[in-house]
Amino acid sequence: MRRAIIIENDPDLRKLYELNLDLYLGMEVIVLHNADSVMDFLKLDTAVDLIICEKQVGDENTILKVFYAVKSNKLDIPIFLLGNEPKVANDVESFEQDNWKGVIRKAAKVLKITAEEMASKQVPDYYPIPVKHFLQLRQTSAEVYDCQTDTGDDELPSFKEIFKANQEISKSIIEKHIVDGKKNLYVHKLKRLQFLGEYADRVMKVLISNKDSEQQRIAATSSVFYASQEMLNATGMTEQTIAMAKTTINEMMKVAEESEGLAELLAILEKDKAGYLFTHATLIAAVSHYVIEKMEWGTEEQQEKICIAAFFHDITIPDDKLAKIHSLSSLKEAALTKKDEEKVIAHAYDACTMIRDYPQTPIGTDMIILQHHCHINGKGFPESYSSQLTPLAVVFFVVEQYVDYMLSTPKEIFNKSAIIANFRSRFNKGYYRKVINALEEADLK
Ligand SMILES: [Fe+2]
Ligand SMILES: [Fe+2]
Repeated sequence: MRRAIIIENDPDLRKLYELNLDLYLGMEVIVLHNADSVMDFLKLDTAVDLIICEKQVGDENTILKVFYAVKSNKLDIPIFLLGNEPKVANDVESFEQDNWKGVIRKAAKVLKITAEEMASKQVPDYYPIPVKHFLQLRQTSAEVYDCQTDTGDDELPSFKEIFKANQEISKSIIEKHIVDGKKNLYVHKLKRLQFLGEYADRVMKVLISNKDSEQQRIAATSSVFYASQEMLNATGMTEQTIAMAKTTINEMMKVAEESEGLAELLAILEKDKAGYLFTHATLIAAVSHYVIEKMEWGTEEQQEKICIAAFFHDITIPDDKLAKIHSLSSLKEAALTKKDEEKVIAHAYDACTMIRDYPQTPIGTDMIILQHHCHINGKGFPESYSSQLTPLAVVFFVVEQYVDYMLSTPKEIFNKSAIIANFRSRFNKGYYRKVINALEEADLK
């Protein structure tokens, strides 16, 4: 989390800055009251991204003292001055004391926070929906908004309606947004669930009609995957979310069974820009499908269990950045908020709790989800490789590691034998050995 120090002794002004630094930029704000306290703070902790400082506190020329303290310690922290001081006019950014909008805009620029990110950090009156999913829609009863990233001099990101309720959604406009690199369009937060429900109904009809090419079906599946994960987190298991989850899992099963090999499947997923969550869940289902075929006990029922687990395993962290965290070291590096960190640590346990309400779950599926990061209580990431996991949880764990290599290694240098050798040296004991052998034998081209 980014951090800002603020020295502003007018309580109303300070509140305004604190609130907006948090609201627009997601920053933690450290309030200090004079230059000495800034110096003391920086002696112990230099992980600060911005200092916002008033010119003077009492007799102290605060901005000058703070400026020299930062420079003499060779710290590369941008300083914003609320007021005017000719002696540092070329070294710090100066703002009128109450120009909080100017401060936020400049801070966003300096910290490389895009207008789109700023919009998503605001109290979300508008809810982001990835643009590509609108390709599946003809119309919706919710108004659709675009976040204006092209803000004028004095404006912060704003939302502009681009489709009225029930207006036809133009494919070419959506495609233009995708080409322009936009990530999201928005619906009002009060219409979010209504939108997702309608949306999933429409996409499920497309899937049931079953006439499309593999590329189109995978695009539709990734959309219903997205909508069902969002809805499950918002409303839990309901008749509607259960139907959505079932449709998605059936489609993922079909993809795993019918794909003409992994390279082809990966190419389709890349072309669809399906996003990490769907891509990695689908590849886990597909690779496990081939691996289970090579196990003595391998049956279609076991393949189905893994597919259900692939859909649910990261469901409580439906965010690419969080779902990519697979170790304690990457958890630390991600510098998450306390709340997100707790969510990530307990996500296997939480997902396992959620699936207990899913009807007709084949026995043992909940254990795969609970143990998918190698902990039998579903909390944390592996420090060593537990020998107490169920056989299917070991399959899931090894396959997820393999899929992660696939997704993080350029195709030209991806080398299955090298990965197998690496796995053998890292977790070659007990049941893991059998799974690694099956993975080696499986035809994963
Ligand atoms: Fe995962
Ligand atoms: Fe996970």
